[in-house]
Amino acid sequence: MRYCVWNAASSVTVDDILAYVKTLDASMNPPLANYGIDFPVFVKKMTDLGVVLLALDDENRIAGMFAFYCYDESQNGFCTWFGVRSDCRGRGVGTMLREECFQILKARGRRYFRIRTSTASLIASLTKRYGAVVESRETVAGVEKSMMLIDLNAVELGESKATFEMSEP
Ligand SMILES: CC(C)(COP(=O)(O)OP(=O)(O)OC[C@H]1O[C@@H](n2cnc3c(N)ncnc32)[C@H](O)[C@@H]1OP(=O)(O)O)[C@@H](O)C(=O)NCCC(=O)NCCS
Repeated sequence: MRYCVWNAASSVTVDDILAYVKTLDASMNPPLANYGIDFPVFVKKMTDLGVVLLALDDENRIAGMFAFYCYDESQNGFCTWFGVRSDCRGRGVGTMLREECFQILKARGRRYFRIRTSTASLIASLTKRYGAVVESRETVAGVEKSMMLIDLNAVELGESKATFEMSEP
């Protein structure tokens, strides 16, 4: 697995990211499609304004993606989309991606990170590993989602298990 910070010159195109987000949408709870999201607009905003971290398999296909925002004036980072391809789950790909996000946020002087999710295994993992707390709860398209808040000052990050390329050649 190869990890990189996506940029516009990457061999992975915005259309590849769009296709990946659409393909994995059925894994989301609720799927974004259930509340009428405009996928091209959603992905354009993410690639224009966000930081998009990718895990790429041996065939240069997207195996995992973690996209977050940290452009605003506040001291925060916010995850907008996180998903690992079903055949690559449970192998630490998601952990690699989110810990790289934390490294980037810390390097940019951000203190807090938020992710809104209904995924029980993710909530448990964030709580156990990083002391995440539930900041608020909200029902979206009939599904209860928790806004998880992580204080990055309290997060100890280990050595990266793989090398993150700052951008793809
Ligand atoms: C949530 C998700 C991104 C995690 O990615 P992943 O690469 O499987 O995660 P990891 O292998 O790093 O494991 C994360 C935790 O889940 C546990 N886990 C083990 N097998 C797992 C599996 N098959 N699926 C998910 N989590 C698993 C791991 O033990 C780990 O727990 P720990 O941190 O307490 O050790 C991935 O399961 C996914 O894409 N799910 C569907 C979409 C989704 O729910 N996205 C989150 C929306 S905010």
